Amino acid sequence: MRRRRTAILISGRGSNMDALIAAARAPDFPAEIVLVASNRPDAPGLARAKAAGLAVAAVDHKIYAGREEFERALQIILETHRVELVCLAGFMRLFSPWFIGQWRDRLLNIHPALLPSYRGLHTHERALADGVKIHGCTVHFVVPEMDEGPIVAQAAVPVLDTDTAETLGARVLAQEHAIYPNALRLVASDAVRVEGNRVLGALPASNATLLAPP
Ligand code: GAR
Repeated sequence: MRRRRTAILISGRGSNMDALIAAARAPDFPAEIVLVASNRPDAPGLARAKAAGLAVAAVDHKIYAGREEFERALQIILETHRVELVCLAGFMRLFSPWFIGQWRDRLLNIHPALLPSYRGLHTHERALADGVKIHGCTVHFVVPEMDEGPIVAQAAVPVLDTDTAETLGARVLAQEHAIYPNALRLVASDAVRVEGNRVLGALPASNATLLAPP
Protein backbone atom coordinates (compact mmCIF):
# COMPACT_ATOMS: atom_id res chain seq x y z
CA MET A 1 0.00 0.00 0.00
CA ARG A 2 1.31 3.42 -0.98
CA ARG A 3 0.58 5.94 1.74
CA ARG A 4 -0.55 9.34 0.51
CA ARG A 5 1.81 12.15 1.49
CA THR A 6 -0.39 14.45 3.56
CA ALA A 7 0.07 17.92 5.03
CA ILE A 8 -1.95 19.37 7.90
CA LEU A 9 -2.50 23.13 7.99
CA ILE A 10 -3.33 24.71 11.34
CA SER A 11 -3.69 28.15 12.87
CA GLY A 12 -3.92 27.36 16.57
CA ARG A 13 -4.53 24.65 19.14
CA GLY A 14 -4.29 21.71 16.78
CA SER A 15 -6.42 19.08 18.50
CA ASN A 16 -7.70 17.80 15.15
CA MET A 17 -4.08 17.72 14.00
CA ASP A 18 -3.30 15.50 17.00
CA ALA A 19 -6.12 13.13 16.03
CA LEU A 20 -4.87 12.90 12.44
CA ILE A 21 -1.27 12.34 13.54
CA ALA A 22 -2.34 9.63 15.98
CA ALA A 23 -4.38 7.81 13.34
CA ALA A 24 -1.57 8.02 10.80
CA ARG A 25 0.83 6.31 13.22
CA ALA A 26 -0.86 3.01 12.34
CA PRO A 27 1.29 1.43 9.62
CA ASP A 28 -1.80 0.40 7.64
CA PHE A 29 -3.26 3.93 7.61
CA PRO A 30 -3.37 5.05 3.95
CA ALA A 31 -2.03 8.55 4.66
CA GLU A 32 1.34 9.59 6.03
CA ILE A 33 1.71 13.01 7.68
CA VAL A 34 4.77 14.54 6.03
CA LEU A 35 4.30 18.18 7.03
CA VAL A 36 2.46 20.39 9.50
CA ALA A 37 2.33 24.05 8.45
CA SER A 38 0.82 27.06 10.14
CA ASN A 39 0.16 30.66 9.12
CA ARG A 40 0.84 31.55 12.77
CA PRO A 41 4.40 30.86 13.90
CA ASP A 42 3.24 30.74 17.54
CA ALA A 43 0.47 28.16 16.98
CA PRO A 44 0.63 25.70 19.91
CA GLY A 45 0.02 22.80 17.54
CA LEU A 46 3.13 23.62 15.55
CA ALA A 47 5.38 23.16 18.58
CA ARG A 48 3.71 19.82 19.37
CA ALA A 49 4.16 18.61 15.81
CA LYS A 50 7.83 19.56 15.95
CA ALA A 51 8.25 17.78 19.28
CA ALA A 52 6.66 14.72 17.68
CA GLY A 53 9.43 14.71 15.10
CA LEU A 54 7.36 15.89 12.15
CA ALA A 55 8.52 18.39 9.54
CA VAL A 56 6.98 21.76 10.31
CA ALA A 57 6.75 25.08 8.50
CA ALA A 58 5.58 28.49 9.64
CA VAL A 59 4.31 30.59 6.75
CA ASP A 60 3.41 33.82 8.48
CA HIS A 61 0.73 35.44 6.33
CA LYS A 62 1.52 38.85 7.85
CA ILE A 63 4.93 39.11 6.21
CA TYR A 64 3.55 38.70 2.70
CA ALA A 65 2.30 41.56 0.56
CA GLY A 66 -1.02 39.85 -0.09
CA ARG A 67 -2.96 36.62 -0.21
CA GLU A 68 -1.47 35.55 -3.52
CA GLU A 69 2.12 35.90 -2.28
CA PHE A 70 1.27 33.98 0.90
CA GLU A 71 -0.39 31.18 -1.02
CA ARG A 72 2.45 30.89 -3.54
CA ALA A 73 4.95 30.55 -0.69
CA LEU A 74 2.80 27.88 0.92
CA GLN A 75 2.38 26.08 -2.40
CA ILE A 76 6.15 25.92 -2.89
CA ILE A 77 6.59 24.37 0.57
CA LEU A 78 3.85 21.81 -0.12
CA GLU A 79 5.48 20.92 -3.44
CA THR A 80 8.91 20.68 -1.82
CA HIS A 81 7.51 18.07 0.55
CA ARG A 82 5.80 16.30 -2.38
CA VAL A 83 2.43 16.64 -0.63
CA GLU A 84 -0.50 14.86 -2.26
CA LEU A 85 -3.34 15.63 0.18
CA VAL A 86 -3.94 18.63 2.44
CA CYS A 87 -6.06 18.63 5.61
CA LEU A 88 -7.15 21.98 7.02
CA ALA A 89 -7.45 21.55 10.79
CA GLY A 90 -8.52 24.79 12.41
CA PHE A 91 -6.83 26.75 9.61
CA MET A 92 -8.48 30.14 9.83
CA ARG A 93 -7.64 31.76 6.49
CA LEU A 94 -9.64 31.67 3.30
CA PHE A 95 -7.93 30.44 0.15
CA SER A 96 -8.20 31.97 -3.30
CA PRO A 97 -9.75 30.06 -6.22
CA TRP A 98 -6.20 29.72 -7.60
CA PHE A 99 -4.91 27.81 -4.55
CA ILE A 100 -8.06 25.68 -4.30
CA GLY A 101 -7.69 24.88 -8.00
CA GLN A 102 -4.23 23.46 -7.30
CA TRP A 103 -5.78 21.01 -4.82
CA ARG A 104 -9.08 20.05 -6.40
CA ASP A 105 -10.53 16.99 -4.60
CA ARG A 106 -7.31 16.80 -2.55
CA LEU A 107 -8.04 19.51 0.04
CA LEU A 108 -10.16 18.63 3.10
CA ASN A 109 -11.57 20.85 5.83
CA ILE A 110 -13.33 20.19 9.12
CA HIS A 111 -16.12 22.52 10.19
CA PRO A 112 -17.80 22.55 13.62
CA ALA A 113 -21.41 22.33 12.37
CA LEU A 114 -23.65 20.18 10.23
CA LEU A 115 -23.15 21.95 6.90
CA PRO A 116 -24.86 23.54 5.06
CA SER A 117 -26.16 24.89 8.39
CA TYR A 118 -23.96 27.31 10.31
CA ARG A 119 -21.23 28.24 7.91
CA GLY A 120 -18.72 30.67 9.36
CA LEU A 121 -17.77 31.36 12.96
CA HIS A 122 -19.41 30.92 16.39
CA THR A 123 -21.35 27.89 15.24
CA HIS A 124 -22.12 26.52 18.72
CA GLU A 125 -23.45 29.85 19.99
CA ARG A 126 -25.65 30.21 16.91
CA ALA A 127 -26.97 26.65 17.16
CA LEU A 128 -27.95 27.25 20.80
CA ALA A 129 -29.55 30.61 19.96
CA ASP A 130 -31.65 28.95 17.26
CA GLY A 131 -32.76 26.17 19.60
CA VAL A 132 -31.79 23.34 17.24
CA LYS A 133 -31.91 19.87 18.79
CA ILE A 134 -29.14 18.35 16.69
CA HIS A 135 -25.76 19.89 15.95
CA GLY A 136 -22.50 18.35 14.80
CA CYS A 137 -19.51 18.55 12.52
CA THR A 138 -18.59 18.02 8.89
CA VAL A 139 -15.53 17.02 6.88
CA HIS A 140 -15.76 18.29 3.31
CA PHE A 141 -13.68 18.96 0.22
CA VAL A 142 -12.82 22.64 -0.10
CA VAL A 143 -14.30 24.70 -2.94
CA PRO A 144 -13.96 28.45 -3.49
CA GLU A 145 -17.18 29.22 -1.59
CA MET A 146 -16.55 29.34 2.16
CA ASP A 147 -17.71 26.26 4.10
CA GLU A 148 -19.19 24.63 1.02
CA GLY A 149 -18.03 21.61 -0.95
CA PRO A 150 -18.72 17.88 -1.23
CA ILE A 151 -19.30 16.31 2.18
CA VAL A 152 -17.18 13.27 3.11
CA ALA A 153 -18.38 12.64 6.66
CA GLN A 154 -20.63 14.12 9.31
CA ALA A 155 -21.39 13.34 12.93
CA ALA A 156 -24.43 14.54 14.82
CA VAL A 157 -24.58 15.49 18.46
CA PRO A 158 -27.79 16.06 20.46
CA VAL A 159 -28.22 19.51 22.00
CA LEU A 160 -29.04 19.26 25.71
CA ASP A 161 -31.10 21.68 27.81
CA THR A 162 -28.07 22.22 30.01
CA ASP A 163 -25.67 22.96 27.16
CA THR A 164 -23.51 26.04 26.94
CA ALA A 165 -21.45 26.83 23.86
CA GLU A 166 -18.50 25.30 25.71
CA THR A 167 -20.13 21.99 26.65
CA LEU A 168 -21.76 21.59 23.24
CA GLY A 169 -18.51 22.54 21.52
CA ALA A 170 -16.57 19.99 23.55
CA ARG A 171 -18.91 17.16 22.51
CA VAL A 172 -18.77 18.27 18.89
CA LEU A 173 -14.97 18.44 19.08
CA ALA A 174 -14.80 14.85 20.33
CA GLN A 175 -16.75 13.84 17.22
CA GLU A 176 -14.47 15.94 15.01
CA HIS A 177 -11.55 13.88 16.30
CA ALA A 178 -13.42 10.71 15.36
CA ILE A 179 -14.63 11.61 11.87
CA TYR A 180 -11.61 13.47 10.52
CA PRO A 181 -9.26 10.47 10.57
CA ASN A 182 -12.06 8.34 9.09
CA ALA A 183 -12.63 10.82 6.30
CA LEU A 184 -8.92 11.04 5.54
CA ARG A 185 -8.74 7.26 5.46
CA LEU A 186 -11.54 7.11 2.89
CA VAL A 187 -10.03 9.81 0.67
CA ALA A 188 -6.44 8.56 0.91
CA SER A 189 -7.46 5.01 0.05
CA ASP A 190 -9.52 6.16 -2.96
CA ALA A 191 -12.60 4.61 -1.38
CA VAL A 192 -14.72 7.59 -2.35
CA ARG A 193 -15.34 9.55 -5.52
CA VAL A 194 -16.73 13.01 -6.04
CA GLU A 195 -19.75 13.41 -8.32
CA GLY A 196 -20.99 16.96 -8.44
CA ASN A 197 -21.63 17.99 -4.88
CA ARG A 198 -21.80 14.41 -3.59
CA VAL A 199 -19.10 12.10 -2.30
CA LEU A 200 -19.99 8.53 -3.22
CA GLY A 201 -18.36 5.26 -2.32
CA ALA A 202 -17.47 3.21 0.67
CA LEU A 203 -18.74 5.61 3.32
CA PRO A 204 -20.20 3.39 6.05
CA ALA A 205 -23.77 4.41 6.79
CA SER A 206 -23.02 4.54 10.49
CA ASN A 207 -20.44 7.22 9.85
CA ALA A 208 -22.92 9.42 8.02
CA THR A 209 -25.73 8.99 10.52
CA LEU A 210 -23.83 8.74 13.78
CA LEU A 211 -25.67 10.35 16.67
CA ALA A 212 -23.23 10.60 19.51
CA PRO A 213 -24.89 10.25 22.89
CA PRO A 214 -23.94 12.82 25.52
C1 GAR B 1 -12.24 23.03 15.30
O1 GAR B 1 -13.42 23.00 16.05
C2 GAR B 1 -12.53 23.16 13.83
O2 GAR B 1 -13.69 22.48 13.44
C3 GAR B 1 -12.73 24.65 13.71
O3 GAR B 1 -11.74 25.21 14.52
C4 GAR B 1 -11.45 24.31 15.58
C5 GAR B 1 -9.96 24.07 15.60
O4 GAR B 1 -9.61 23.32 16.72
N1 GAR B 1 -12.60 25.07 12.35
C6 GAR B 1 -13.28 26.09 11.83
O5 GAR B 1 -14.05 26.77 12.47
C7 GAR B 1 -13.01 26.34 10.37
N2 GAR B 1 -13.92 27.28 9.84
P1 GAR B 1 -8.22 22.54 16.75
O6 GAR B 1 -7.15 23.55 16.39
O7 GAR B 1 -8.08 22.07 18.17
O8 GAR B 1 -8.32 21.41 15.76
